[in-house]
Amino acid sequence: MPGRFITFEGIDGAGKSSHIEALAAGLRERGHHVVVTREPGGTPLAERVRELVLHAPMDALTETLLVFAARRDHLTAQIEPALARGATVLCDRFTDATFAYQGGGRGFDLAVLTQLEHWVQQGRQPDVTFWFDLSAELAAQRRQAARSPDRFEQQDEAFFERVRAGYAARRDAQPQRFAVIDASGEREAVWSQIAAAMDKGGWW
Ligand code: TMP
Repeated sequence: MPGRFITFEGIDGAGKSSHIEALAAGLRERGHHVVVTREPGGTPLAERVRELVLHAPMDALTETLLVFAARRDHLTAQIEPALARGATVLCDRFTDATFAYQGGGRGFDLAVLTQLEHWVQQGRQPDVTFWFDLSAELAAQRRQAARSPDRFEQQDEAFFERVRAGYAARRDAQPQRFAVIDASGEREAVWSQIAAAMDKGGWW
C-alpha cells in the first residue's frame, strides 16, 4: 500500500517543528515507517538550493524557479520512492508555501505557479496538510526570540499577513486536504488539535 503524504504549513513563528517530531514518534509507536523531511531541502541538491533561497538576494521569479527545482529533486529522489515503499512522509512545508510566500507574500503570478506545480508534481498532492494558523502579529512576537533571521524572517508584518491570506486561499480551494490548527495557544493545546485531527481522519 502506498504511504500517506502529510505536509505542515504556516507563517514563520507558527511553531510547527516540535509537533512534526512528536507526530513522527507517535506514528512510529504505531508501527509506521516514517520519513521526516522539509522544503526547500530534503536531498543534498535541494539543501544546497535552500541555502541560496534563504540567504542570497534574488527576484521573485528566480526564487520561484529555485523552490520548484528543489521540489522536483526532492520528489523524485526522496518523496515518491518513500511513498511507493509504504512510508508515511512528514514534510515541513511544500507547494502551499510557494503559493503563500511567493504568490501571497511577493505577489508573484498565481497562474505561473499553477503551471509549475503541474510540471513539477505531475498530479502529486499531499493527502493531508496541517496548516498552523496564527496572526502575523503573534508570529512576529515569537520570532523575536529566534536566531539570526533569514530573507523571509526579515520581512515585515504586512508581508506575513499576505502569506497568511495566501494559505487561506489554498485552504479554500482544496478544503478536503486541510486540517486547520489554531496555533495561537500553548504547545499542549496545539498538540491536542493535531491528535484529534489524526483520530478523526483515521490517519494513525
Ligand atoms: P523554514 O523551513 O525554517 O520554515 O524556512 C523556510 C523558509 O522558506 C520559510 O520562510 C518559507 C520559505 N519558503 C518559500 O518562500 N517558498 C517555498 O516554496 C518554501 C517551501 C519555503
